[in-house]
Amino acid sequence: MKTATCILAAAAALSLASVGAAAFAQAAPESESAKASMIGGGAGDADGAFVSPFRFSEPDGAKLYKRVCAGCHMGDAKGAKGAGFYPALAGNPNLESAAYPAYVVLHGMHGMPGFAGMMSDEQIAGVVNYVRTNFGNSYSDPITAEEVKAAR
Ligand code: HEC
Repeated sequence: MKTATCILAAAAALSLASVGAAAFAQAAPESESAKASMIGGGAGDADGAFVSPFRFSEPDGAKLYKRVCAGCHMGDAKGAKGAGFYPALAGNPNLESAAYPAYVVLHGMHGMPGFAGMMSDEQIAGVVNYVRTNFGNSYSDPITAEEVKAAR
């Protein structure tokens, strides 16, 4: 009786180990994961934020804002001052021409990284249109994905 339990336990441990190995094998092989470890990410898609380690998956401007921009410009878009300076996007007259924020999001600006490689034209248009129509901004001329493409 005791031996049987022991064998069962060993079998269970073995099958657990092989499940673990299979999961690892699945997670590891592509070159994506090599890139991910280069940027220290491991699994780039752990919380669904990225399609790959280099592409955001969020479909619309509001979600992209929360995920990408709010970290620096704050959830209420009022910016922050401290270890760095993050300008307010709320009520910001510099957003009057859509081409300007689109350019900044594409190419970055001083302390802000560019997101050209991480977002599609649609995503950039979406997040720019979102900030231009929220947080006290009400510019009613949306930028199109084609215009973003032309500014790349
Ligand atoms: C890593 C922090 C960081 C992230 C993330 C970030 N920004 Fe910025 N952003 C900055 C900083 C810093 C500046 C100011 C650069 C300067 O003037 O030196 C800035 C400037 C801007 C400006 C220009 C504001 C002005 O008055 O000229 C816009 C527009 C802007 N960001 C939009 C966005 C949007 C939209 C996102 C999300 C897609 C975003 N930023 C993500 C840090 C960030």
